[in-house]
Amino acid sequence: MNVPLPLFVKRDGQPKRSAITCQYKCGNACFHEVPNTSRNEYFGDIVRAALSRRGMLKGSAGVVVAIGAAGVLASCGTDSTGEQAGGSLVDGVPVGTNFTPVAPNSDDALVVPEGYETAIVIRWGDPLFADAPSFDPDKQSAASQAVQFGFNNDFAALLPIEGQANSYLLVVNHEYTTEPQMFKGYNKENPSLEHYQTAIAAHGLSVVQVQGESGTGKLTTEFGKYNRRITGTTEFLVTGPAAGSALLKTNADPTGTKVLGTLNNCSGGVTPWGTVLSGEENINQYFANADKVDESAKGRLQRYGFPTGASERKWELYEPRFDLEKEPNEANRFGWVVEVDPWDASAPPIKHTALGRFKHEAATIHVAADGTVVAYMGDDERFDYMYKFVSSRKIQSGTGQASMRHNLTILDAGTLYVAKFTGDHPDKIDGTGAVPSDQGFTGTGQWIPLLVTAEDGKATSRVDGFTAEEVAVFTRLAADKVGATKMDRPEDFEASPKSGKVYVALTYNEQRGKAGKPGVDEANPRNINKFGQVLEIDDEHAGVKFTWNVLMLCGDPKTADTYFAGFDKTKVSPIAAPDNLAFDGYGNLWISTDSSRAADSNDGLFSVVLDGPNRGETKQFLTVPFGGETCGPIISEQRVTVCVQHPGERDDATAEKPASHWPDGGDSLPRPAVVSVWKKGGGRIGT
Ligand code: FEO
Ligand code: CA
Repeated sequence: MNVPLPLFVKRDGQPKRSAITCQYKCGNACFHEVPNTSRNEYFGDIVRAALSRRGMLKGSAGVVVAIGAAGVLASCGTDSTGEQAGGSLVDGVPVGTNFTPVAPNSDDALVVPEGYETAIVIRWGDPLFADAPSFDPDKQSAASQAVQFGFNNDFAALLPIEGQANSYLLVVNHEYTTEPQMFKGYNKENPSLEHYQTAIAAHGLSVVQVQGESGTGKLTTEFGKYNRRITGTTEFLVTGPAAGSALLKTNADPTGTKVLGTLNNCSGGVTPWGTVLSGEENINQYFANADKVDESAKGRLQRYGFPTGASERKWELYEPRFDLEKEPNEANRFGWVVEVDPWDASAPPIKHTALGRFKHEAATIHVAADGTVVAYMGDDERFDYMYKFVSSRKIQSGTGQASMRHNLTILDAGTLYVAKFTGDHPDKIDGTGAVPSDQGFTGTGQWIPLLVTAEDGKATSRVDGFTAEEVAVFTRLAADKVGATKMDRPEDFEASPKSGKVYVALTYNEQRGKAGKPGVDEANPRNINKFGQVLEIDDEHAGVKFTWNVLMLCGDPKTADTYFAGFDKTKVSPIAAPDNLAFDGYGNLWISTDSSRAADSNDGLFSVVLDGPNRGETKQFLTVPFGGETCGPIISEQRVTVCVQHPGERDDATAEKPASHWPDGGDSLPRPAVVSVWKKGGGRIGT
């Protein structure tokens, strides 16, 4: 069958995200001036300069290096027969995907392919403990929220419980709150103490035990012994080179080692030793008065986008630590990768400072053959950077306490790097997205060391003019100095369990190529990049070199500036703003997106074939309800789990007048929720 997939009918190129989502989720990051104004030795700038004096470049920057990843691309052109390989077997392994893609829609519902079923796993306000109150939209309080599932779920992990068949710990991030749509009578200008305390309790993470149903993908929550809430006021332990630093000391914590809370936890990762990592992302928005600090601190706060004047939520009215004029160092205590051991409800969660401080989207782990642990990390801001941390300690196997104690220190010793990209075809990148060669957009790269932390805790800066503590706390500024490549908002990374190749979602960057802003390079090849791209990286993992190619340039496939690894564009679903990545057990990549910028439709989850003749085939598996965002996909043999974040989040919506009634129906408030999807009657997802 050669049936084109349903295409979006409308492309206005305007953001589909509501203004209120920008306001509460990211602190209007896209509407502020780009924080990275550094004049680093940025390759894109060199290319632009060279292009203006064409001919000078070819003998210098245009060095072509043979790369492995490009060879993969070269063998995988368009499947002109139109036959789908989905569900077929090669050497006994399923290849591709085989389901009817979900058509674009704006339903107030979760829409999945024909033949699939869904159920809610847990939603905002559901009790986590037997004695916790049920959700009551008119009686939400700080006390009830502290024992209920939090708001706006983003990352999710499902960790099997040893010795209990089909039983898991579900660990979920609660990225942010949208107070006007949560609380009736919310006063934006003068929020009540109860609204502040309820909102900060709705941040953080939840741990909840779930039981799978035999023969389906349904998951039912239990009041298990591991159930736990971590909130914006839970005590965290700081480890690594910035622990105890003067830069982290405050009036409430003169030791600089204990922080109350975690905020804006976006995506995350699972470690092989059974803990969960979570990225503190747009933490700047919670703080007030970045203009009322010492001159020396102002530039640093600006580089991280901290706002001047009052904060959006005005928490500074009730907690002085959110007022930078009163407590300037509190800002330095957020923006880290945190690690939670969900198997020990009494264990303090950790903020790992050896991994640097920036707007951490996530941290995803790959273990090298010798047990070295590599954490890949994106800084989700326009023109900010990609990082990795390579441990010096090796992973210890086993689930005993001694192994766990050791493994919990792995992210405290090693080297933090930032990425620099070099394209193979610098003189052919014109900003339109035109593919520069048969092999696509390709190049080489280098990881530049910033900070080395020894196992005895001593840290060494690798950046001139920065102490080790300064590199850890002001990582963006250190990376500016070493010529890192300015990317189009690096979100999630994921290493393929099959090939070891690392995939990175760059969500979009409409400032690329604008007057006074950095221009294109081969890894970020489109000006006014509205739809984002996905990179495929062949990394040395523990080493410092990599090769790469652009797997896909997202958007409406009808337009010339899109690219799907050479696959026939009439047979792919429109996709925009790639955000979270996951793999199924057969090496297919799954991408959840962040708003449907390419079309007039709800946001969704997509499968992307990476191997064989259908490489690049991209199909929409589900859409989330009106106004929502798809987050935290987990793809297992018989179940897809996603987090539905901010359903019904529209500018004119309030708790009194909600725009969505998902999932409870009637006149109910919309409630962010985790959902599971499975094939009717059981069976492998996607075949
Ligand atoms: Fe919270 Fe970068 O998305
Ligand atoms: Ca995200």
